[in-house]
Amino acid sequence: MSYLMGIDVSTTGVKALLIAPDGQVIASANTEQPLSTPSPLWSEQNPADWWRSTLASIKKALAQAGISGEEVAAVGLTGQMHGLTLLDQGGAVLRPAILWNDQRTAAQCIEIRERVGSKRLIELTGNDALTGFTAPKILWVRENEPEIYARVRHILLPKDYIRYLLTGDFAVDCADGAGTLLFDIKTRNWSPEVLDTLDIPLNWLPKVFEGSQITGMITAEAAALTGLKAGTPVAGGGGDQAAQAVGVGAVHPGIVALTLGTSGVVFATTNGPFVEPEGRLHAFCHSVPGRWHLMGVMLSAAGSLRWYRDVMAPGQDYDSLLAPAEKVQPGCEGLLFLPYLTGERTPYPDPLARGAFVGLTIRHGPAHMTRAVLEGVAFGLRDSFELMKSTGLAKIDQVRVSGGGAKSLLWRQILADVFNAELVTVNTMEGAAFGAALLAGVGCGIYSDTDEACNRTVKITGSTTPQALNVDLYNRLYPTYRQLYPTLRDISYQLGRY
Ligand code: XUL
Repeated sequence: MSYLMGIDVSTTGVKALLIAPDGQVIASANTEQPLSTPSPLWSEQNPADWWRSTLASIKKALAQAGISGEEVAAVGLTGQMHGLTLLDQGGAVLRPAILWNDQRTAAQCIEIRERVGSKRLIELTGNDALTGFTAPKILWVRENEPEIYARVRHILLPKDYIRYLLTGDFAVDCADGAGTLLFDIKTRNWSPEVLDTLDIPLNWLPKVFEGSQITGMITAEAAALTGLKAGTPVAGGGGDQAAQAVGVGAVHPGIVALTLGTSGVVFATTNGPFVEPEGRLHAFCHSVPGRWHLMGVMLSAAGSLRWYRDVMAPGQDYDSLLAPAEKVQPGCEGLLFLPYLTGERTPYPDPLARGAFVGLTIRHGPAHMTRAVLEGVAFGLRDSFELMKSTGLAKIDQVRVSGGGAKSLLWRQILADVFNAELVTVNTMEGAAFGAALLAGVGCGIYSDTDEACNRTVKITGSTTPQALNVDLYNRLYPTYRQLYPTLRDISYQLGRY
């Protein structure tokens, strides 16, 4: 029997997943690694920790499944996007990786917009310069750590550093490449114009592949360390959002993937390299050849609920925390929550934005506040849906919801009512690693293409339909929610000085 392995180099840990070609999960092993915040707004990880987690998870997954590396037909990689990993000539890591949620590069974003031109930047790369992306991080290192920059010879994204250690190759897939701000999303390759303008050598960047193409083989050295067989093919895979979309079958226009993890992501496949003219939505390549996607990212989605639980009811399980909120009327008697606890990206790219409860009265208790958090996140995600609808670039026929937050029926109902759309759940709950395994399956010929991979493995398990009365109420409340950010922006900036 042949199995497929997906490896997800996420921020919290590295997951190794083994599936059978029909999608059955054979093993799923996770190993956590630390995150460091050496200065305010900074977020870094040591690439050696990703490697340690990867080795541990691959070995655990093979042991859990009770199979040998000989039975793994191919490996697919996915992981946190945008992180900057710098290597010297000999492949040694030069400094801790600067991650997707690091906010230190506001000045470099302004510099990129000025040098490339804001309009041209969006035309070429599909995106505005945001602190989370890779290019401003490269400029930050050049300006602040010139002695390190002088030794740089290779620039890699997090999962591609793991690829390098597994296969010896410098390679990236188009979906993750598009998140660097150095990519031309039309040609699905590096943009010579952006690289020249920013003075970044093309030969520092890895070779580009489609997500389902094989980029290299497991080396003898990596085989000895992992238990995988030397020569096992490794597929391009994808950045976590594109691989997650493959994993829930969101590979065609009309099927929108909504991921309610720490961050909240609205992901819509498109048939062309469409761009939101102001860059308020991200436009990246999909992991599926010939497809692209638009994406809105809320930085604290289920993360807002976790913060609220940890502050208000530390240790309480989510079911018992959320149960009293079911009895609260939609709209929470006029209590709103703005979920910008870690700044925001869509629709306001503002690292200094702050969260708020607005409208508290003496009648409000914990259950109202709990429900307000769920509703506030739903309203914030609706902003991305509205942007997608207003551009006319993305169709929205069905929303496939996944991630930890999707486990709550109450939250799913609120989301269906706030979006006025049917929300469905699917059987594949293993996230991006599942999508990466499917891409590996296409790469080694187990599936003819990504459509076949999704059709054979992804099934709809449940549906939540909008309730007319609630839809009407939320439609009336949404414009008030929309006023919160512009009204509170200056106050947030003032408070940020304390
Ligand atoms: C996507 C993004 C995050 C990271 C970490 O644009 O920033 O999803 O990939 O998960």
